[in-house]
Amino acid sequence: MQKMTANETDFFGFGDSSIKGAIFDLDGVLVDTAKYHYLAWKRLAGELGFDFTEADNERLKGVSRARSLEILLEVGGVSLAENEKEKAASRKNDWYVEYLLAMDDSALLSGAADYLARLRKGGIRVALGSASKNAPLILERLNIAGFFDAVIDGNAVSKAKPDPEVFLKGAEALGLSPELCVVFEDALAGVEAAKRGGMKVIGVGKPELLPGADRYVSSLRDLC
Ligand code: BG6
Ligand code: MG
Repeated sequence: MQKMTANETDFFGFGDSSIKGAIFDLDGVLVDTAKYHYLAWKRLAGELGFDFTEADNERLKGVSRARSLEILLEVGGVSLAENEKEKAASRKNDWYVEYLLAMDDSALLSGAADYLARLRKGGIRVALGSASKNAPLILERLNIAGFFDAVIDGNAVSKAKPDPEVFLKGAEALGLSPELCVVFEDALAGVEAAKRGGMKVIGVGKPELLPGADRYVSSLRDLC
């Protein structure tokens, strides 16, 4: 993967200094929480009597909690009444939160804190654009809340990615039009959401697994 040079004013590797805002997905971009989501969903699947593999878990990245449960039930060929679905999602979340409460700085992905600091220092406005309703807890646990001018999370949106709502709200909260913002995403649904919102997207991950982004980094360390 191409290493981007950290030139003083080219924060994003586009050679374009018109970008004034950066909107970050959380899980898989700033923090390594996918493993905790996986363990909690797997435990739920086990209770419901089927196995849930890491490959199945790939389908849940970037997807809301309610939609994740639908996918999990589809994998297991299980159907639940609406009230049972709510209880199941809430049980899964309780287990997930237990992991979050035990997490420390080592869960931050490579370069995340350094790059956020670099953007702040350079006067770039920074927002979070995440599907997670646990975002405030994660930011607080990892001591990174202070980097953000705005936090738009799963509590603030009514439409899940690939709908652009979360990123459009992020740009609006930063006081910037979408074309002045770049989104960082590790999930297909997020890349699509950002493109639909009229923003540039930097894919964090392998290009072949994340088609549609404007450019790619293997981690934020590439941009530090
Ligand atoms: C996204 C994750 O960031 O948040 C998904 O990629 C997750 O896997 C979604 O389902 C919702 O998270 P939470 O914390 O509200 O259950
Ligand atoms: Mg993600």
